[in-house]
Amino acid sequence: MPAPDAGVAGVRTLSGLTPASLAGTTVLVRSDLNVPLDDDGGVGDRTRIDASVPTLRHLVGAGAKVVVMSHLGRPKGEVRPELSLAPVARALSEALGRDVLLARESPGDPALRTRVAGLPEGAVLLLENLRFLPGETANDAGLVEALAALGDLYVQDAFGTAHRAHASTEGVPKQVRARGGAAVAGLLVERELRYLGEALADPERPFVAVMGGAKISGKIDVIEAILPRVDRLLVGGAMANTFFRALGLDTGKSLVEEDRVSMAADLMEEAGDRLILPVDCRVAEDLDSGRTPRVTGRDEVGAEDVIGDMGPESEALFASEIESAATVVWNGPMGVFESAPFADGTLAIARAMAARAERGGTSIVGGGDSAAAVEGAGLTGQMTHVSTGGGASLDLMAGRELPGIQALDPASADGGKAPSHASEVE
Ligand code: 3PG
Repeated sequence: MPAPDAGVAGVRTLSGLTPASLAGTTVLVRSDLNVPLDDDGGVGDRTRIDASVPTLRHLVGAGAKVVVMSHLGRPKGEVRPELSLAPVARALSEALGRDVLLARESPGDPALRTRVAGLPEGAVLLLENLRFLPGETANDAGLVEALAALGDLYVQDAFGTAHRAHASTEGVPKQVRARGGAAVAGLLVERELRYLGEALADPERPFVAVMGGAKISGKIDVIEAILPRVDRLLVGGAMANTFFRALGLDTGKSLVEEDRVSMAADLMEEAGDRLILPVDCRVAEDLDSGRTPRVTGRDEVGAEDVIGDMGPESEALFASEIESAATVVWNGPMGVFESAPFADGTLAIARAMAARAERGGTSIVGGGDSAAAVEGAGLTGQMTHVSTGGGASLDLMAGRELPGIQALDPASADGGKAPSHASEVE
């Protein structure tokens, strides 16, 4: 691993800045606090809140004045009270162990600037849901200007939203830099780039990728980007059905992407024996949670069967491949894991990856469903890294550039010792 002040994936990092340079500085932090809400309007899952805490604690500990920005849901430029960040402010306050006040003033309101200017060192102020403002997703210049004027230093910690070119993710860091300030990656983004970017670009071998989920079409860019580098590509989930069809197997009433069958055939030809498919399946009449699935060979699926998961022989096969890997990355469930009878394959991957990490391997879990499955199995803490990003983690693995990362300062030779301070607020 490089020294912290060398940046990560070519961008400058918060960990490369000296604590002394942060004291008294007003820092604009873009966090991804887009969390599921429960039926009572409270926070349903605190994963992203907890993941945002290290950066905020670091800044608070250094005596910075912290202004946090986030979105919640997709209110499309309208104020929707049920998508207020108020419950998130409460949960963040509990997680941080200090007050987090919610600022309901709009970013251009002079009262907000006065309030920010009066923050004591170590204070944390959360701005109301930025997507209540039409300018956020439009990356509107006026909103960018108003937000950028609130801070001296920009910290990008919203990995899950870094694939969006919105005002708070792309416009503001560019604007802060344009007026001589610094824009750096926060601790969470640094970790994400370290594992999903650098570790996968030059993985320790053997390198095994496990891809699942419903459709090849949603993952094809990742598969194509990763295929030249992997020693093994394990394919499961309903996506495997399309490969079965390309092998000429009967898939009964299972989901198959008919228009991707020839693409699956091409991928199998390119990968040769590096691509491994399930050898058996769990099937049922339908995927209702009340069903007891039947285990069958992949070449014995009946005309009325629906494949809901891979079978136990496949679990053992995939687990042994994971066991032999030095680096393993996983994205997408192996079956309909939300339904208990079809969750075994996904859980088997989660357990094998946790065991591999325990024995010194690098186990990296992409965001979205796989991260949810790992969390549900209580194995998050045993993985080397579990991404907080869904679309962003797929984009990064596919080798696409993320606008919210591109907008940051390039890693520099000065080790980030001196962020420039603009003083529009003070
Ligand atoms: C996510 O949940 O994937 C991120 O918060 C981004 O949200 P979005 O897809 O609404 O931009």
